[in-house]
Amino acid sequence: MEKQALSNNLIPDRRSSKDDLSLTGFKIGNLKINTQLILAPLSGISDLSFRTLCRDFGCKFAFTEMLNAASIKYKSKKTKSMLSSNRKDSPLGAQVLGRDIDMLLNAQDVIQKTKVKLLDFNAACPVRKVARRGEGVALMKEPKLLASIVKKLTSNATIPITVKIRSGWSKDNINAVSIAKRLQDAGASAVFIHARTKEQLYRGKADYDIIARVKDEVNIPVIGSGDVFGPEDVKRMLTQTGCDAVLVARGAMGNPWIFKHSQYFLKTGKLRRISTIAERIKTIKLHLGLASKLYGEKSAVLRMRLFLPLYLKGIPHARKVRGILSELKTKKQLLDMISTLA
Ligand SMILES: Cc1cc2nc3c(=O)[nH]c(=O)nc-3n(C[C@H](O)[C@H](O)[C@H](O)COP(=O)(O)O)c2cc1C
Repeated sequence: MEKQALSNNLIPDRRSSKDDLSLTGFKIGNLKINTQLILAPLSGISDLSFRTLCRDFGCKFAFTEMLNAASIKYKSKKTKSMLSSNRKDSPLGAQVLGRDIDMLLNAQDVIQKTKVKLLDFNAACPVRKVARRGEGVALMKEPKLLASIVKKLTSNATIPITVKIRSGWSKDNINAVSIAKRLQDAGASAVFIHARTKEQLYRGKADYDIIARVKDEVNIPVIGSGDVFGPEDVKRMLTQTGCDAVLVARGAMGNPWIFKHSQYFLKTGKLRRISTIAERIKTIKLHLGLASKLYGEKSAVLRMRLFLPLYLKGIPHARKVRGILSELKTKKQLLDMISTLA
């Protein structure tokens, strides 16, 4: 078993506060990444409309939603649509989930024919039905098999292959460091680490010490994930862990400003916060427009029901909005409702 984690406030900084953290640019394999803020793969969230919105707010590298290798094999329409992109939506990474090597290689071939620039293999998903199939984070319990899958993917690769892992299965089974070393040996070009265990799911604090330890032990880039909700968190993760970049996940939901604001904070040390209701309403309209283009009005409105409480968090009457969300069925109803907030 690997060493127990240090509490986050005991972790020594890996970078000096005088370091210019706004200096962007690192490489994953031969791919230049011009940012330290990457939009995470987010199932049900990071579709083309959400990615386009985030890119409008300064996101320079984004991931698709997680793609199931079996669904690619059986040509699921939904999964195919998850790979839809446009000129603005670049550079783009895709993430694939699976266990069966033939299915994974098939998915890789399909993805490598698109404009996707990087392929991430998911060894982090904690969803019960996924783990029961021995996929996602369950592969962290089978390090040999995980490394052999990654080796086969890297041998078949025309774009860099990365892997997303968690800290481990439970607090008594933290194995991210040894797994990351194996992945490096298997040819992975970078490792993404969500610094929580499978048992934590998305709860409790992310353990930045494990990210720092992985960074100390491998030579490939390490991208950290967990508790990144604002510019100060971005800086804290970069400073405490020395990681090469940060994944923005829940922190971008209802808050696409996080990309611009974090870049500004890293550069100037000054915080900008989105405060006006007018700005939020403008962004909701933009998001709704992008989603309508992708799905049509009806589905876009349904989808926006998920995002509205996040956009309106903390503003007066937010509760009232939550109460009537289920009644919103048309674009007009949604726009009329938000106009009452202005
Ligand atoms: C709604 C939702 C969907 C997610 N989907 C994926 C996914 O498809 N693939 C993945 O690797 N991680 C996924 N994650 C995990 C995030 O990428 C990220 O690692 C995690 O949320 C920790 O970061 P945070 O604490 O800053 O949100 C998802 C998280 C959320 C909240």
